[in-house]
Amino acid sequence: MKFYTLQNKQKLPAIGLGTWKSDTGKVGEAVLEAIKAGYRHIDCASVYGNEAEIGTALQTAFKEGLVKREDLWITSKLWNNAHESDKVIPALKQTLKDLQLDYLDLYLIHWPVAFKADVGFASKAEEFLTPEEAPIIETWKKMEEAYNNGLVKSIGVSNFSMKKLKDLLVDATHAPQVNQVELHPLLHQEELLEFCSNNSIILTGYSPLGSSDRSQEMKKDNEPNLLENEVIVSIAKKHNCSPAQVLLSWHLSRGTAVIPKSTNPRRIKENLESYQISLTEEDLQKIKTLDKGYRYVDAKFFEVPNGPYKNIYDE
Ligand code: A2P
Repeated sequence: MKFYTLQNKQKLPAIGLGTWKSDTGKVGEAVLEAIKAGYRHIDCASVYGNEAEIGTALQTAFKEGLVKREDLWITSKLWNNAHESDKVIPALKQTLKDLQLDYLDLYLIHWPVAFKADVGFASKAEEFLTPEEAPIIETWKKMEEAYNNGLVKSIGVSNFSMKKLKDLLVDATHAPQVNQVELHPLLHQEELLEFCSNNSIILTGYSPLGSSDRSQEMKKDNEPNLLENEVIVSIAKKHNCSPAQVLLSWHLSRGTAVIPKSTNPRRIKENLESYQISLTEEDLQKIKTLDKGYRYVDAKFFEVPNGPYKNIYDE
């Protein structure tokens, strides 16, 4: 297994199990399968609605002696309705309670977007808090407090553009250790990657396989299918591996972590085994030609009429 050493010397396992879209009733078993297969990194979030089941699975793993707490890396994320200063630590404590843990390895601000506290998913302008009402730096200060008091070993952000990272770095006492963003061969984000490596921020890629299990309303017509992309398929044939393994191995070749989601035991194992595949310079050159800046998760769902958030990714 490959690890990335963060600025604070914590070691992030390069491949983690994604749990976005993993249904309750299935996610617990998936986490146990993953741990048995050798995963030591599980990516969670309160908004996925499945942390309690993951917590039960983790307890089972500890009790059965499959793994020790200190050998696991557990990430979770602060949802948009808990950005206000008095909401951050309580939201983190709820996640810790659900996951049945006394600390997280990494806690991320899920989006640079704030909702009012009683709103699950904002769909009207009045359900949002503006950046002035909930400044991201105030939320970040609370993340730093959680870091300082040991509730979390590392802190970071998700879905932050280079501009938003730069703004945050101006007033942050502790820089984010990680930025989790969408990454795959159709979306290389080279400039962001370069900025993050220059600032010792590790990028973690979500939707590495194209997230085809997203709900229909999140999908555009005629979305490209990454797993059937002919360049990816031809590289997979050459290495005698699966297209998913090529997509995941590509992350390791760029120094980014990656969190493929699966609830299928065979695919969970297959995805972890992608670290055994070494893409050649020629493969990487071919994959370079696929970059279209294409996003499966375009964040347009936060852009409501007269709402405070536009162009979330600053592009
Ligand atoms: P499943 O959970 O049934 O395995 P992403 O990680 O980009 O969000 O993609 C998740 C989607 O990719 C899910 O539909 C998941 O289905 C599927 N998937 C996960 N691993 C593989 C794999 N190795 N080969 C093909 N599809 C996969």
